[in-house]
Amino acid sequence: MSELFKKIISHCKEYGFIFNSSEIYDGLSAVYDYGPLGVELKNNIKSYWWDAMVKRNKNIVGIDSSIFMHPNTWKASGHIDAFNDPLIDNKDSKKRYRADELIENHIEKIENKINKDIKKAKTKFGDNFNEKEFRKTNQRVLDRQKQINEIISEMNKCLQSENLKGIKKLIEKIELKCPVSGTCNWTEVRQFNLMFKTKIGSNQETSSDIYLRPETAQGIFVNFLNVQKTTRQKIPFGIAQIGKAFRNEIIARQFIFRMREFEQMEMQFFIRPGEEDEWYEYWKEKRMNWHISLGLRKEDFSFKEHTKLAHYAKSACDIEFKFPFGFKELEGIHSRSDFDLIQHQKLSGKKIKYFDSEINESFTPFVIETSIGLDRMFLACLCSSFKREENNNRILLKLPYKLAPIKIAVFPLTKDDSLVNIANNIYEKINKKYNCFYEEKDSIGKRYRRQDAIGTPLCITVDNESEKDQKVTIRNRDSMIQERVALNKIEEYIEGCF
Ligand code: GAP
Repeated sequence: MSELFKKIISHCKEYGFIFNSSEIYDGLSAVYDYGPLGVELKNNIKSYWWDAMVKRNKNIVGIDSSIFMHPNTWKASGHIDAFNDPLIDNKDSKKRYRADELIENHIEKIENKINKDIKKAKTKFGDNFNEKEFRKTNQRVLDRQKQINEIISEMNKCLQSENLKGIKKLIEKIELKCPVSGTCNWTEVRQFNLMFKTKIGSNQETSSDIYLRPETAQGIFVNFLNVQKTTRQKIPFGIAQIGKAFRNEIIARQFIFRMREFEQMEMQFFIRPGEEDEWYEYWKEKRMNWHISLGLRKEDFSFKEHTKLAHYAKSACDIEFKFPFGFKELEGIHSRSDFDLIQHQKLSGKKIKYFDSEINESFTPFVIETSIGLDRMFLACLCSSFKREENNNRILLKLPYKLAPIKIAVFPLTKDDSLVNIANNIYEKINKKYNCFYEEKDSIGKRYRRQDAIGTPLCITVDNESEKDQKVTIRNRDSMIQERVALNKIEEYIEGCF
């Protein structure tokens, strides 16, 4: 784990963004609780998404479906049969791994070697260096790239045909060692279903197996007709929802990046068959623009087309974000065809069709899905905002203003009654519209530092002059510039900032 990532994790705990679940019992692996600031940030991300997807689009509506669903839902969706990860254990360390991730990590190591060669050549040749040409002509780079391509191709072939023996063979062929024991003493590769199973009903005889949903999407599919009929939406239209999902992940790593209980923000966009390529491209662009519009750095995002497709997908890509541990999936855009609706039709025996009056035809709609993990988005925002400014001797959380848990802090410089009265009046007035924080304790410097560290964009200070000149000081988090603003102009000033 990088030093930066370790710092971000401890920052989350120190300031009450995120705690380990049931920490007093030493925590529960890959399960986390959001603290007072965490829940504010999370709610702001949710609102930002909901506004962009549901409120700003006349043809997208929202729902909130239940976590428990009829077990046939998961038979139909393919999750009972195909929602598996290949796992492998090292017999010496007794550590368990996802076999495909082990191989991917190995590929990453080879890629790092290529990058090292490129860096060296860059230093050697300076401005004359041409990376493209170097990649095409340097024998060592070519050999390594060939090695990577062969491994990827072999791995994808095995994964697609569920050839577990083939994956084991590949792991042996590339002499993959366990990162803990350093040995190649592996078990066979086995499939592991990621769904959590429990029982519904209190009676042993009559209770039946039920699953915690591994994605929110199925709640949308099974409600397609309910929503379409009650809202009278015409295709193309979308259904969105935000909710919890559960996956019994084999390896729990990277803090809230991969959790066993997490939240998704998903939207299924129902379209005419044959229009899927066009809409797939449309949603790819639209979703990427959403990330950029937040004010996060463009260069931290990239698309990655899937080579190994999920059981439901016709084509799919990830929007990846540059986390401190590399570019990783943040959001998925999937072209799901009519797979899910057809499957639910089969299993339920109910007709799920849409009558398109424009073309006078009935059909099962195709679907483009956008699916983003709320917790991953939370982590991306934190990673992109966390700064250590040595020159100003401060830790800064440069969150987009819209997402900041607290928008404005109000401080009386001292505990003097007259300053406290003015500060309280300001707080009461602006807290109606913006989430505010009030504090009297500690030096003003310390109070500013604390707000910088949690990402509060503005601090208002009432000082000894305020009563006389009817002005306060407003300090900006990013520039640290302080401006004198008249008491009756505070709201106007704030309005201009947000
Ligand atoms: N309905 C489609 C679907 O669930 P997915 O790619 O498996 O697709 C979508 O998941 C998003 O959910 C991912 O891009 C990621 O942001 C988030 N996600 C998936 N598994 C997660 C986990 N274990 N912990 C946190 N977020 C997760």
